[in-house]
Amino acid sequence: AVSINDAPRFTYRGVMLDPCRHFLPVSAVKEEIERLSAYKINRVHWHLTDDQGWRIEIKKYPKLTTIGSQRVEGDGSIHRGFYTQEEVREVVAFAKAHHVEIVPELEMPGHGMAAIAAYPWLSCQGEQMTPRIIWGVEDVVFCPGKETTFRFLEDVIDEMVPLFPGKLFHIGGDESPRGEWAKCDSCQTRMKTQGYKKEAQLQSYLIARISKHLAKKGKQLIGWDEILEGGDLDTTAVVMSWRGEGGGIEAAKQKHDVIMTPNTYLYFDYYQTKDTENEPLAIGGYLPLERVYGYEPMPSSLTPEEQKYIIGVQANLWTEYIPTFSQAQYMVLPRWAALAEVQ
Ligand code: ACM
Ligand code: ZN
Repeated sequence: AVSINDAPRFTYRGVMLDPCRHFLPVSAVKEEIERLSAYKINRVHWHLTDDQGWRIEIKKYPKLTTIGSQRVEGDGSIHRGFYTQEEVREVVAFAKAHHVEIVPELEMPGHGMAAIAAYPWLSCQGEQMTPRIIWGVEDVVFCPGKETTFRFLEDVIDEMVPLFPGKLFHIGGDESPRGEWAKCDSCQTRMKTQGYKKEAQLQSYLIARISKHLAKKGKQLIGWDEILEGGDLDTTAVVMSWRGEGGGIEAAKQKHDVIMTPNTYLYFDYYQTKDTENEPLAIGGYLPLERVYGYEPMPSSLTPEEQKYIIGVQANLWTEYIPTFSQAQYMVLPRWAALAEVQ
Protein backbone atom coordinates (compact mmCIF):
# COMPACT_ATOMS: atom_id res chain seq x y z
CA ALA A 1 0.00 0.00 0.00
CA VAL A 2 2.87 2.35 0.66
CA SER A 3 6.54 2.48 0.03
CA ILE A 4 8.81 4.08 2.60
CA ASN A 5 12.05 5.65 1.53
CA ASP A 6 14.10 6.35 4.64
CA ALA A 7 17.78 6.30 5.53
CA PRO A 8 19.99 7.75 8.21
CA ARG A 9 21.83 10.96 7.44
CA PHE A 10 25.02 9.94 9.25
CA THR A 11 26.81 6.60 9.51
CA TYR A 12 28.07 7.28 13.06
CA ARG A 13 25.12 7.93 15.37
CA GLY A 14 26.44 7.86 18.87
CA VAL A 15 26.15 8.58 22.54
CA MET A 16 28.89 8.61 25.16
CA LEU A 17 28.43 6.99 28.56
CA ASP A 18 30.73 7.85 31.50
CA PRO A 19 30.86 5.07 34.12
CA CYS A 20 34.03 6.58 35.61
CA ARG A 21 32.59 9.44 37.66
CA HIS A 22 29.63 7.28 38.70
CA PHE A 23 29.64 3.60 37.87
CA LEU A 24 26.92 2.14 35.67
CA PRO A 25 26.34 -1.60 36.23
CA VAL A 26 26.16 -3.98 33.28
CA SER A 27 22.36 -4.23 33.59
CA ALA A 28 22.06 -0.43 33.19
CA VAL A 29 24.41 -0.36 30.20
CA LYS A 30 22.32 -3.06 28.52
CA GLU A 31 19.10 -1.19 29.22
CA GLU A 32 20.60 1.93 27.62
CA ILE A 33 21.69 -0.08 24.58
CA GLU A 34 18.17 -1.45 24.13
CA ARG A 35 16.71 2.04 24.25
CA LEU A 36 19.36 3.43 21.90
CA SER A 37 18.69 0.75 19.32
CA ALA A 38 15.02 1.77 19.31
CA TYR A 39 16.23 5.23 18.29
CA LYS A 40 18.50 3.71 15.59
CA ILE A 41 21.51 5.03 17.46
CA ASN A 42 24.35 2.71 16.48
CA ARG A 43 27.44 3.66 18.52
CA VAL A 44 28.11 3.69 22.25
CA HIS A 45 31.32 5.48 23.12
CA TRP A 46 32.25 3.83 26.43
CA HIS A 47 34.49 6.15 28.47
CA LEU A 48 36.24 3.49 30.56
CA THR A 49 39.13 5.30 32.23
CA ASP A 50 39.44 8.64 34.01
CA ASP A 51 40.94 10.41 37.04
CA GLN A 52 38.15 9.30 39.37
CA GLY A 53 37.99 5.64 38.38
CA TRP A 54 39.43 2.93 36.13
CA ARG A 55 36.59 0.70 34.98
CA ILE A 56 37.99 -2.15 32.87
CA GLU A 57 39.84 -5.25 34.03
CA ILE A 58 43.37 -5.48 32.60
CA LYS A 59 44.96 -8.78 33.59
CA LYS A 60 48.55 -7.64 33.16
CA TYR A 61 48.02 -4.67 35.51
CA PRO A 62 45.71 -5.89 38.31
CA LYS A 63 46.17 -2.78 40.47
CA LEU A 64 44.26 -0.76 37.85
CA THR A 65 41.14 -2.31 39.30
CA THR A 66 42.18 -3.30 42.85
CA ILE A 67 43.33 0.30 43.46
CA GLY A 68 42.18 2.38 40.48
CA SER A 69 38.51 1.42 40.54
CA GLN A 70 37.83 2.75 44.05
CA ARG A 71 37.73 6.22 45.53
CA VAL A 72 36.78 7.72 48.88
CA GLU A 73 33.82 10.09 48.68
CA GLY A 74 33.38 13.25 50.74
CA ASP A 75 31.20 11.42 53.27
CA GLY A 76 33.83 8.71 53.76
CA SER A 77 31.99 6.08 51.73
CA ILE A 78 33.77 4.16 48.96
CA HIS A 79 32.61 4.49 45.36
CA ARG A 80 33.71 1.47 43.35
CA GLY A 81 33.05 -0.62 40.29
CA PHE A 82 34.63 -2.07 37.19
CA TYR A 83 33.78 -4.38 34.30
CA THR A 84 35.50 -7.74 34.07
CA GLN A 85 36.66 -8.72 30.59
CA GLU A 86 33.91 -11.35 30.60
CA GLU A 87 31.33 -8.63 31.28
CA VAL A 88 32.80 -6.44 28.54
CA ARG A 89 32.41 -9.32 26.07
CA GLU A 90 28.83 -9.81 27.22
CA VAL A 91 28.01 -6.11 26.70
CA VAL A 92 29.71 -6.01 23.29
CA ALA A 93 27.76 -9.09 22.15
CA PHE A 94 24.49 -7.66 23.50
CA ALA A 95 25.20 -4.41 21.65
CA LYS A 96 25.97 -6.27 18.43
CA ALA A 97 22.66 -8.08 18.64
CA HIS A 98 21.06 -4.62 18.82
CA HIS A 99 23.11 -3.28 15.87
CA VAL A 100 25.19 -1.11 18.19
CA GLU A 101 28.97 -0.98 18.08
CA ILE A 102 30.89 -0.17 21.25
CA VAL A 103 33.73 2.34 20.82
CA PRO A 104 36.03 1.94 23.83
CA GLU A 105 37.95 4.86 25.28
CA LEU A 106 41.31 4.56 27.00
CA GLU A 107 42.05 8.13 28.02
CA MET A 108 45.56 9.62 27.63
CA PRO A 109 47.74 11.52 28.40
CA GLY A 110 45.42 13.39 30.82
CA HIS A 111 42.59 12.06 32.97
CA GLY A 112 44.89 9.23 34.07
CA MET A 113 44.96 9.70 37.83
CA ALA A 114 43.25 6.40 38.69
CA ALA A 115 45.94 4.55 36.72
CA ILE A 116 48.69 6.70 38.25
CA ALA A 117 47.36 5.88 41.74
CA ALA A 118 47.80 2.21 40.85
CA TYR A 119 51.19 2.63 39.14
CA PRO A 120 52.84 5.92 40.21
CA TRP A 121 55.70 5.48 37.69
CA LEU A 122 53.25 6.48 34.95
CA SER A 123 53.50 10.16 35.96
CA CYS A 124 56.47 12.51 35.61
CA GLN A 125 57.24 12.79 39.33
CA GLY A 126 56.21 9.26 40.30
CA GLU A 127 54.51 10.41 43.49
CA GLN A 128 52.04 8.05 45.23
CA MET A 129 48.50 9.42 44.85
CA THR A 130 44.89 8.26 45.06
CA PRO A 131 42.18 8.25 42.40
CA ARG A 132 40.97 11.85 42.21
CA ILE A 133 38.22 12.60 44.73
CA ILE A 134 37.02 15.91 43.26
CA TRP A 135 35.85 16.86 39.75
CA GLY A 136 37.71 19.16 37.37
CA VAL A 137 40.96 18.91 35.43
CA GLU A 138 43.91 17.13 37.08
CA ASP A 139 47.47 18.47 36.62
CA VAL A 140 49.17 15.10 37.12
CA VAL A 141 49.11 13.20 33.81
CA PHE A 142 50.97 10.40 32.05
CA CYS A 143 54.66 11.09 31.31
CA PRO A 144 55.38 10.97 27.56
CA GLY A 145 59.12 11.19 28.26
CA LYS A 146 59.46 7.68 29.67
CA GLU A 147 59.40 4.51 27.56
CA THR A 148 57.69 2.65 30.44
CA THR A 149 54.60 4.82 29.87
CA PHE A 150 54.38 3.67 26.25
CA ARG A 151 54.91 0.04 27.22
CA PHE A 152 52.01 0.35 29.67
CA LEU A 153 49.67 2.05 27.20
CA GLU A 154 50.47 -0.44 24.46
CA ASP A 155 50.00 -3.40 26.82
CA VAL A 156 46.60 -2.07 27.86
CA ILE A 157 45.63 -1.50 24.23
CA ASP A 158 46.73 -5.04 23.40
CA GLU A 159 44.38 -6.44 26.04
CA MET A 160 41.49 -4.17 25.04
CA VAL A 161 41.68 -4.65 21.26
CA PRO A 162 40.44 -8.28 21.20
CA LEU A 163 37.43 -7.30 23.33
CA PHE A 164 36.13 -4.66 20.90
CA PRO A 165 35.65 -5.82 17.29
CA GLY A 166 34.88 -2.32 15.92
CA LYS A 167 37.45 -0.33 13.97
CA LEU A 168 37.51 2.84 16.10
CA PHE A 169 39.56 3.09 19.30
CA HIS A 170 39.19 6.29 21.33
CA ILE A 171 42.28 7.61 23.12
CA GLY A 172 40.76 10.70 24.76
CA GLY A 173 43.40 13.40 24.41
CA ASP A 174 41.39 16.23 26.03
CA GLU A 175 42.21 18.45 28.99
CA SER A 176 45.82 17.43 29.56
CA PRO A 177 47.81 20.20 31.28
CA ARG A 178 51.49 20.31 30.31
CA GLY A 179 53.00 21.92 33.42
CA GLU A 180 54.42 18.66 34.80
CA TRP A 181 56.12 17.91 31.46
CA ALA A 182 57.95 21.25 31.65
CA LYS A 183 59.47 20.21 35.00
CA CYS A 184 60.32 16.60 34.05
CA ASP A 185 63.83 15.49 33.02
CA SER A 186 62.52 12.61 30.88
CA CYS A 187 60.06 14.86 29.06
CA GLN A 188 62.67 17.56 28.50
CA THR A 189 65.15 14.97 27.19
CA ARG A 190 62.50 13.69 24.78
CA MET A 191 61.87 17.24 23.59
CA LYS A 192 65.57 17.82 22.98
CA THR A 193 66.00 14.51 21.10
CA GLN A 194 62.97 15.27 18.94
CA GLY A 195 63.92 18.89 18.40
CA TYR A 196 60.66 20.16 19.92
CA LYS A 197 60.14 23.78 20.95
CA LYS A 198 56.99 23.43 23.06
CA GLU A 199 55.41 20.83 25.32
CA ALA A 200 52.32 20.63 23.05
CA GLN A 201 54.51 18.70 20.62
CA LEU A 202 54.92 15.97 23.25
CA GLN A 203 51.16 15.51 23.12
CA SER A 204 51.33 15.02 19.32
CA TYR A 205 54.31 12.70 19.78
CA LEU A 206 52.28 10.47 22.10
CA ILE A 207 49.21 10.53 19.85
CA ALA A 208 51.32 9.68 16.78
CA ARG A 209 53.03 6.73 18.48
CA ILE A 210 49.77 5.35 19.82
CA SER A 211 48.10 5.84 16.44
CA LYS A 212 50.82 3.73 14.80
CA HIS A 213 50.42 1.03 17.43
CA LEU A 214 46.64 0.97 16.92
CA ALA A 215 47.09 0.80 13.15
CA LYS A 216 49.27 -2.28 13.58
CA LYS A 217 46.35 -3.86 15.43
CA GLY A 218 43.92 -2.90 12.66
CA LYS A 219 42.37 -0.03 14.65
CA GLN A 220 41.77 3.60 13.80
CA LEU A 221 42.49 6.30 16.38
CA ILE A 222 39.77 8.71 17.42
CA GLY A 223 40.25 11.51 19.95
CA TRP A 224 38.78 14.74 21.35
CA ASP A 225 39.59 17.90 19.38
CA GLU A 226 42.71 18.70 21.42
CA ILE A 227 44.51 16.00 19.40
CA LEU A 228 44.82 18.66 16.67
CA GLU A 229 47.05 20.74 18.96
CA GLY A 230 50.78 20.40 18.48
CA GLY A 231 50.31 19.75 14.76
CA ASP A 232 51.27 16.79 12.55
CA LEU A 233 48.17 14.74 13.24
CA ASP A 234 47.97 11.82 10.82
CA THR A 235 44.92 12.26 8.55
CA THR A 236 43.67 8.78 9.46
CA ALA A 237 42.83 10.12 12.96
CA VAL A 238 39.15 10.86 13.57
CA VAL A 239 38.40 14.04 15.52
CA MET A 240 35.55 14.46 17.99
CA SER A 241 34.60 18.14 18.19
CA TRP A 242 33.47 18.89 21.75
CA ARG A 243 34.59 22.48 22.46
CA GLY A 244 31.88 23.79 20.16
CA GLU A 245 32.13 23.14 16.44
CA GLY A 246 35.44 24.91 15.75
CA GLY A 247 37.67 21.86 16.21
CA GLY A 248 35.47 19.83 13.87
CA ILE A 249 35.49 22.54 11.21
CA GLU A 250 39.29 22.83 11.38
CA ALA A 251 39.66 19.02 11.32
CA ALA A 252 37.41 18.66 8.25
CA LYS A 253 39.50 21.28 6.44
CA GLN A 254 42.55 19.15 7.29
CA LYS A 255 40.76 16.09 5.82
CA HIS A 256 40.06 14.26 9.07
CA ASP A 257 36.80 12.43 9.53
CA VAL A 258 34.83 14.28 12.21
CA ILE A 259 32.19 13.42 14.78
CA MET A 260 30.28 16.49 15.94
CA THR A 261 29.57 16.42 19.67
CA PRO A 262 29.62 20.13 20.59
CA ASN A 263 29.04 21.14 24.19
CA THR A 264 26.98 24.01 22.76
CA TYR A 265 24.23 21.55 21.67
CA LEU A 266 24.88 17.97 22.76
CA TYR A 267 26.14 17.84 26.36
CA PHE A 268 23.25 16.13 28.10
CA ASP A 269 24.77 16.69 31.53
CA TYR A 270 23.66 20.34 31.06
CA TYR A 271 20.33 21.57 32.45
CA GLN A 272 17.17 21.07 30.39
CA THR A 273 15.33 23.97 32.00
CA LYS A 274 16.01 27.43 33.39
CA ASP A 275 14.13 26.48 36.55
CA THR A 276 17.28 24.98 38.07
CA GLU A 277 15.96 25.48 41.64
CA ASN A 278 13.55 22.61 41.11
CA GLU A 279 15.95 20.35 39.25
CA PRO A 280 18.46 17.82 40.44
CA LEU A 281 21.88 19.49 40.62
CA ALA A 282 23.65 19.53 37.24
CA ILE A 283 27.02 20.69 36.00
CA GLY A 284 25.51 23.90 34.55
CA GLY A 285 24.66 25.01 31.03
CA TYR A 286 21.23 25.12 29.40
CA LEU A 287 20.35 22.79 26.54
CA PRO A 288 16.58 22.37 26.26
CA LEU A 289 14.97 19.90 23.88
CA GLU A 290 14.32 22.60 21.27
CA ARG A 291 17.98 23.47 21.03
CA VAL A 292 18.94 19.84 20.48
CA TYR A 293 16.26 19.40 17.79
CA GLY A 294 17.44 22.60 16.15
CA TYR A 295 21.07 21.56 15.85
CA GLU A 296 22.41 21.49 12.28
CA PRO A 297 25.63 19.47 12.40
CA MET A 298 26.81 20.36 8.90
CA PRO A 299 28.77 23.63 9.22
CA SER A 300 27.79 26.07 6.45
CA SER A 301 31.33 27.44 6.47
CA LEU A 302 32.61 24.19 4.93
CA THR A 303 32.61 23.52 1.20
CA PRO A 304 30.51 20.55 -0.02
CA GLU A 305 33.79 18.64 -0.43
CA GLU A 306 34.84 19.40 3.17
CA GLN A 307 31.36 18.58 4.50
CA LYS A 308 31.88 14.95 3.44
CA TYR A 309 34.27 14.62 6.39
CA ILE A 310 31.45 15.17 8.90
CA ILE A 311 30.58 11.50 9.34
CA GLY A 312 28.67 11.53 12.59
CA VAL A 313 26.97 13.13 15.53
CA GLN A 314 27.11 12.17 19.20
CA ALA A 315 25.71 13.37 22.53
CA ASN A 316 27.73 12.98 25.73
CA LEU A 317 26.60 12.23 29.26
CA TRP A 318 29.31 13.05 31.79
CA THR A 319 28.27 11.84 35.22
CA GLU A 320 29.98 14.06 37.80
CA TYR A 321 26.56 15.21 39.03
CA ILE A 322 24.64 12.09 37.99
CA PRO A 323 25.02 9.54 40.79
CA THR A 324 22.18 7.18 39.82
CA PHE A 325 20.92 5.39 36.74
CA SER A 326 17.45 6.91 37.14
CA GLN A 327 18.98 10.40 37.08
CA ALA A 328 21.00 9.44 33.99
CA GLN A 329 17.76 8.45 32.28
CA TYR A 330 16.16 11.72 33.37
CA MET A 331 18.98 13.66 31.72
CA VAL A 332 18.94 11.82 28.37
CA LEU A 333 15.18 11.55 27.91
CA PRO A 334 13.67 13.00 25.85
CA ARG A 335 16.84 14.62 24.50
CA TRP A 336 18.02 11.31 22.97
CA ALA A 337 14.87 11.40 20.78
CA ALA A 338 15.87 14.82 19.48
CA LEU A 339 19.44 13.61 18.97
CA ALA A 340 18.20 10.67 16.90
CA GLU A 341 16.29 13.06 14.64
CA VAL A 342 19.44 15.12 14.07
CA GLN A 343 21.47 11.98 13.35
C1 ACM B 1 35.31 16.72 27.37
O1 ACM B 1 34.14 17.07 27.59
N1 ACM B 1 36.28 17.05 28.21
C2 ACM B 1 35.65 15.95 26.19
ZN1 ZN C 1 57.57 13.44 32.11
